[in-house]
Amino acid sequence: MTEDPKPLTVKKGRAELTLEQIAAALPIAEDSMFMIGEQWSTCVHAARGGNWRLATLCAKHVRKLINTFGMLNPHYAQGVETFKPLLEAVVSACEKRDAAAFEPAFKAATDAANAEHVGTGHGFVLWKIPPTHRGDLELGPIDLAPKG
Ligand code: HEM
Repeated sequence: MTEDPKPLTVKKGRAELTLEQIAAALPIAEDSMFMIGEQWSTCVHAARGGNWRLATLCAKHVRKLINTFGMLNPHYAQGVETFKPLLEAVVSACEKRDAAAFEPAFKAATDAANAEHVGTGHGFVLWKIPPTHRGDLELGPIDLAPKG
């Protein structure tokens, strides 16, 4: 009888992890969505406050998080594809510092996200803009020159 081959492992600090352990450590849907909600909130408050570089950073962070969410949860990938162009309109408005374009783009993307929540059986997750930001970031204009 042949022995089972030793599972492939990767060192991380003092740990030696199998692929299964690495996969288990990846964010679950709930983790990704929690982080997306935080970034989305900062995005709108920063845009309204005039800190457009922070708003852009947050919108782009949502892009990265939603892509990872779609990759790790292929059963939600179609919903992610529907959401992506609406998110790009938000990113674009932030980059252009265009408050008039930002508001309808942000609303359209938020409405689409909430429609996805309904469509995925999570209609009880109705995201809305919090009246105030949690307060740990400057939301007003900070016009430092970009690096490089
Ligand atoms: C900016 C857009 C979005 C925001 C702000 C948002 C926000 C949230 C929040 C706050 C939750 C609850 C997380 C928690 O348990 O604490 C959630 C859950 C969820 N969202 Fe979103 N969401 C967005 C876009 C989407 C999109 C595009 C989809 C596409 C399918 C989606 C699918 C889901 C699903 C499936 C859950 C339930 C996750 C679970 O607990 O298993 N969301 N979302």
